[in-house]
Amino acid sequence: MKISVIGAGYVGLVTGVCMAKIGNEVTLVDINEKKLEAIKNKRPPIYEEGLVELLNVTSIKLNSDFKKIADSKLVFICVGTPSNNDGSISLAQIETAVEQISHVLRAKKEYYVICVKSTVPPGTTEKFVIPLLEQSGRKAGNHFGVCMSPEFLSEGKAIRDFMNPARIIIGEYDKRSGDTLANLYSGFSAPIIRTDPTTAEMIKLASNTFLATKISFINEIGNICKQLNIDVSNVSRGMGFDDRIGSKFLNAGIGFGGSCLPKDLNGLIAESRHIGYEPKLLQEVLNFNDAQALKAIELLKKHVSLENATIGILGLAFKPDTDDVRDSRAIKIVETLLWEGANIKAYDPLAVENFKTLFPQIEYVTADEVLDSNAILILTEWSEFSRLDYSDKIVIDGRRVPKAKEARIYEGVCW
Ligand code: UGA
Repeated sequence: MKISVIGAGYVGLVTGVCMAKIGNEVTLVDINEKKLEAIKNKRPPIYEEGLVELLNVTSIKLNSDFKKIADSKLVFICVGTPSNNDGSISLAQIETAVEQISHVLRAKKEYYVICVKSTVPPGTTEKFVIPLLEQSGRKAGNHFGVCMSPEFLSEGKAIRDFMNPARIIIGEYDKRSGDTLANLYSGFSAPIIRTDPTTAEMIKLASNTFLATKISFINEIGNICKQLNIDVSNVSRGMGFDDRIGSKFLNAGIGFGGSCLPKDLNGLIAESRHIGYEPKLLQEVLNFNDAQALKAIELLKKHVSLENATIGILGLAFKPDTDDVRDSRAIKIVETLLWEGANIKAYDPLAVENFKTLFPQIEYVTADEVLDSNAILILTEWSEFSRLDYSDKIVIDGRRVPKAKEARIYEGVCW
């Protein structure tokens, strides 16, 4: 099928190359020419396992000109939906993309489908996207179809997740557009759930906010366990065998970061308030997560006085296997350490360049050089941290790296 993908961020780029890999003719459109140039040279602006390899074996057309989408049967909207200052989800990029798409496709004779993939508040496709598209005088469900199909790709493992989805959600405005998407995904063995666009939008937000809630829940249990001298990982293991609970996302530590869980929580909270409902649980999940990162510093202060001390940081990315530092717990922790007068030496296998743009003033060194500090904080569970020699060190572990237990003084955040 001829497919266009609008937005070459991590969702758009991964969707584009994976759609090409499964046999579609893909045009990827982005207004950022620099980004397109980097992708063309197989140096994508994001790190994603297997992405460069896929770029080498697939051929996708890259373009900054929306006119190139004219012969597409399906257009995926994958532009960013960042947070506004009040936490609500910004639709500015969606608006620009929809206007451009509408401008190019208004004269198209054959039926085509517009599919929103970006994470948006419930109701956006029906109340915002469709009215904008219909300004062209063409009717949704008649001249063109509209779907909302959220993605559940986990950064770092996005290609694996795309190729092996747990489920495919198709929120269809008209049956014909739903059929088009169901046909596109027919080679996947995952269950396909067909619903309306607003429900599909809510499924995405509810999924991410549930994962965030699960993490804050196990962190709360972890904090209690720490006081009782219980290792929370054994508790998680014992809980996880119950398939009503499930073993994933029960790793306690310094909390969740990244560009999705905090943003989607904030977005759903703002949306709820907008309709007059106070989402107390969701707000608490967020507050709890903010406080959890600082547990690492509380523990550190038991062992070192921070003023003028050199604190080594292992891990800056919001999780392993990515160079992404957006809302990384390391940001809050480094800010606090600097405020307390500490000097910082930091290391991350991939995220140093991104972190430098936020904190140019701290020292970036090798992993071994980080060990030469008054105390060490582990903030991301990179596998290579299991090869370091911690034996005569003071280590506060926010992510559970078993080898670090060999330290002279070792404290886990929740164990
Ligand atoms: C998340 C969701 O997991 C994806 O399904 C979704 O598609 C994506 O957001 C999105 O909306 O685009 P991602 O942000 O890549 O994916 O990261 P996660 O793997 O969910 O991890 C988020 C944070 O939670 C990380 O900081 C991680 O360290 C933390 N975490 C995760 C824990 O603290 N404990 C756990 O048990 C699991």
